[in-house]
Amino acid sequence: MADWKWMVLLAGAAVGLAQSAGAADALAPAAVVERVPGGGVLNKPVTPAPPVDRVLRGRYLVETGGCGDCHTPLKMGKNGPEPDLTRLLSGHPQSLSMPPVPKLPDGPWLVVSSATNTAWAGPWGVSFTANLTPDGETGLGRWTAKQFADTMRTGKHLGFGREVLPPMPIPAYKNFNDADLDAIFAYLQAIPPVRNRVPAPVPPAGAASSAKK
Ligand code: HEC
Repeated sequence: MADWKWMVLLAGAAVGLAQSAGAADALAPAAVVERVPGGGVLNKPVTPAPPVDRVLRGRYLVETGGCGDCHTPLKMGKNGPEPDLTRLLSGHPQSLSMPPVPKLPDGPWLVVSSATNTAWAGPWGVSFTANLTPDGETGLGRWTAKQFADTMRTGKHLGFGREVLPPMPIPAYKNFNDADLDAIFAYLQAIPPVRNRVPAPVPPAGAASSAKK
């Protein structure tokens, strides 16, 4: 009889041990043990999904938002025009001075653009895309995140200055939320600075008179 009791007790203890080991596994997934070929064991720490990096998020928004289409000059490549990545987001090249705007015939054509896709002439005059790199003299190097967000939201330089001209798509971009604008600015501050002084826009009267020359 005594032997039989001991056997039950031992069996119970074995089940209890197995259960507590299982519970410990379930409660503490501190590491995933992965068996690797050759009999070794990899102890992979289990961490919560990392927070989305702001700069990477900003890069994603800049690339999907098409900022480079206008702010990175095109150059001629083997298969036609391609973005000049040595001038990433640095705006209209200062070395490219534009000749007078060609006179358009009467009709529905309204806007002309340069081969670099960085200068446009239209009813607003001539505009040149800004240098968005962090160069302190010619880019956004001295801007704050707030000045950037205010510009994008209001369509005014730094939030209170002159109107930002077409074709800068302010009506679309003013809908970015705070976190998006913050991320875009973080990315723009992280790209290589390019020293490139973009010319000031030419008002319509000036554009018209230079077209007559
Ligand atoms: C369709 C062309 C186009 C696209 C796309 C575009 N921009 Fe622009 N952007 C311009 C032009 C042109 C100017 C210069 C306007 C001016 O001088 O008033 C400009 C100016 C700016 C300025 C300077 C404003 C200032 O007050 O100095 C900022 C900042 C800017 N763009 C950011 C962006 C960002 C960020 C994106 C993408 C999310 C973007 N742009 C996409 C055409 C574009």
